[in-house]
Order: sequence, then C-alpha cells, then structure tokens
Amino acid sequence: MSTDVREQAIIQRLRAAPKYRGVHVDTIVDIVQRESPKASSTAELERRARLKLHKVVAGYLLTRRITYLARSTAEADGSEAARRERCREVLGAHFSTAERLPDLEAFYPAVFGAVGEAGTVADLACALNPFSLPWLRDATNAEYAGYDLNLAYVELGRQFLADRYPRCSVHHRDVLVCPGAITADIALVLKTYHNMEDRRPGAGLRLVAELGSPVVVVSFPTRTMTGRPVPFTWRLLSALSDFAAERGWPVDRVELPTELVVVIRKAPTLTGQKGSTSGAAA
Ligand SMILES: C[S@@+](CC[C@H](N)C(=O)[O-])C[C@H]1O[C@@H](n2cnc3c(N)ncnc32)[C@H](O)[C@@H]1O
Repeated sequence: MSTDVREQAIIQRLRAAPKYRGVHVDTIVDIVQRESPKASSTAELERRARLKLHKVVAGYLLTRRITYLARSTAEADGSEAARRERCREVLGAHFSTAERLPDLEAFYPAVFGAVGEAGTVADLACALNPFSLPWLRDATNAEYAGYDLNLAYVELGRQFLADRYPRCSVHHRDVLVCPGAITADIALVLKTYHNMEDRRPGAGLRLVAELGSPVVVVSFPTRTMTGRPVPFTWRLLSALSDFAAERGWPVDRVELPTELVVVIRKAPTLTGQKGSTSGAAA
C-alpha cells in the first residue's frame, strides 16, 4: 500500500506522539492506511487512527509504570522462589497476566498437555508474559520467542530474559505483518485475538491461517475487566471453529477458570514426542 501526503503527515505526528513512541511503525502505517478510505478529512483520519491505536496498544491494561517494573526486573534474581515472587509481581501489573495468576501453576501444563512437546514456542502479542518463563519451564524446555508491537514491553522482557534464559528472546514486531515468517512449532495468541479482530475484522482468522506454525493456540478471556462474562468470546470461537473445520484442522479446547484455550492443529507436529527437546534449557 502506498501512502499519500495526508497519511504521511499523520503517520509522522503519531510516531512523534509520546503515547505512541514505542509502537512499531508498521502498526501505525497499517492503521492509518486502512482508516484512510473511511475518513473524509485529515482531522477525521487522525481521530480514527488515534482511536484504533489506543485500543491496539491497550495501555490502560498496565497498572504500574514501566520504570517501576524495570526496577523489579533488575532485582528478579536470587533463589528460584524469590525469582517467581518478583515475576508474579510484574505479571500482576498487566490486566491480562494478572488475571491468569490464579491459574498460573496449571496454565502451561494444561496447554502443553494438549499440544505435546515442542522445540520452539512463539508468544505473539506477549506484553508481560515473558515473566511467566519460570512456569513455562515447568512444562517444556522449548526455546521461547515473544513478540510485541510495544517497544516498552519488548525491552522489559529482553532485560529479564538476558542472562537468565539465553535461548529465549523478545522481538519488536507487529505480528499481523508477515506472520508466515513466524515458524515456531507452537504459536500462542493469548487473549489478544479479539483485539486483532476489533482492529480489522478477519485479522485473527488470517493470522491463524498464515502463521508458519503448525499448531496455533488461541485463548479468550472469560470475564471482562468489570467481572462480567465476555460477550464476544462465543461468537469469535464459533467463527474460528468453523474456519478450522472448513480446512480440516482438528480443534481441542482447554478450559481454565479465567481463560478459554483453543488448540488448532494445521499440520502434524512433534505432538506426543514428549521430551524431544533434550537437556534443560535455561
Ligand atoms: C491484551 S494484551 C495480551 C497480553 C498477553 N498475550 C497475555 O495473554 O498475557 C495485548 C498485547 O498485545 C500487543 N499486540 C496487540 N496486537 C499486536 C500485534 N498485531 N502484534 C504484536 N503485538 C500486538 C499489545 O501491544 C499488548 O501488549
């Protein structure tokens, strides 16, 4: 998609705005270009783009300042118990991971119990989830790669993983752009699928189809931030299940009290070859 002068000016303004400074440029360009045909003026385009970006970045889900979390991260050492304690504190600072805390011990064993062993795991739109690595290690030795369009989360995750988990990484990237390049054995799309569908209807389905990973794990929140049942989950789940059925992809469900997890198998994998990644990864 080429950008016109009006779009270019807005892209530059949004990139310079403190609120969106860490947002991947691909995200800003994509949103401005897709909103452009719907806007009758420059002011309307900028307003529409800011509204979309606000929802995509979802800064309101973070309940602590990044600088505070960076300090906690630097201190996340010592005994395994102390590290887990610090990680819990960081995970508790984002609504998505905070909500998962009561299920954290059960979460990865349940997911990997359903998908089997993997050599590599991609965690798409990971936010603070790299801090769940101590619990991921209870279930698998797989190499971990997190992806997020928000550089603040990426840097925080990198700071935590460096030294402690050398085979793991976090990448600054919009996963809706070229998802085919992500080829991990298992791709996790945790509690963000609905945001992607909100950004662009059909984007979640396209992501599942185009990801280079043979197994895609999509999860949905079961409650809203105010504690009410989530209204969109069943609609999105049903569309996703139909989409998979049309392609002959088996779908399994794992239900946890705070999260509904769906496992989509697009192609055969290492499933069932428990322990195929030998040796303990850091
Ligand atoms: C609701 S949180 C999900 C956090 C995490 N997956 C979890 O379950 O704990 C949304 C996160 O997804 C990121 N995000 C949304 N769309 C994205 C995209 N297309 N590519 C990369 N990151 C994305 C946002 O920056 C934000 O950090």
